[in-house]
Amino acid sequence: MEPAFWRARWAEHKIGFHEGRPNALLEQYLTRLDGRFRVLVPLCGKSEDLAFLAANGHAVVGVELVEDAIVQFFAEHALTPTVERLGDYAIYKAQEITLIAGDWFALTPELVGHVDAIYDRAALIALPPDVRPAYIAKLKTLVPPATWGLVISIDYAEGAWQAPPHAVGDAEVRGYFPAVELVSEQANTGGRIAENGVPATERCYSVQVC
Ligand SMILES: C[S@@+](CC[C@H](N)C(=O)[O-])C[C@H]1O[C@@H](n2cnc3c(N)ncnc32)[C@H](O)[C@@H]1O
Repeated sequence: MEPAFWRARWAEHKIGFHEGRPNALLEQYLTRLDGRFRVLVPLCGKSEDLAFLAANGHAVVGVELVEDAIVQFFAEHALTPTVERLGDYAIYKAQEITLIAGDWFALTPELVGHVDAIYDRAALIALPPDVRPAYIAKLKTLVPPATWGLVISIDYAEGAWQAPPHAVGDAEVRGYFPAVELVSEQANTGGRIAENGVPATERCYSVQVC
């Protein structure tokens, strides 16, 4: 999806992906991130998962294209961030939450800082197939070797739903990472896909990024 697509979604408040509460799989498998302090959250929107991770003792660094989403996150949590502008990026910080406004694909490790774990909910599946390899390639440049994290995917029959979210199959996820453990696989019950009666499978993986 082009940046213009996402900017329009936010401007028109078409953010059905925003759960408004911590993701149930993150709540269930949070302990998989134990001992890993600073969590990178790609394509983070204004997810409640950011606050949930911070409330559970993690530092968080999220990356989001649409700056207004980040402004909304801090306002909704009654936090007053500092804002630093570096080239095309704006870095918002409050307490242990750092949110970087700007394009994922041009990020540098210096902007992101140290990362101990990753958490991907609705990031990989937000991207079309031809863009996903570049997303993963960038992710691998931003974390040290042997970094683990959680990835949540959705899978449905080709053509059953007009993306996003895109269907991402089990084999594709396994192809991106050197080590993958499927920790949960269940029928999808949330969001517009379920509301429209489209059968889909939600999977949660523990992955070694590189
Ligand atoms: C499906 S939403 C998921 C948001 C969040 N992970 C959640 O669970 O609510 C995908 C997000 O990725 C953002 N996005 C899309 N392309 C991006 C890019 N190139 N760089 C950074 N963020 C991007 C969009 O603005 C949108 O907020």
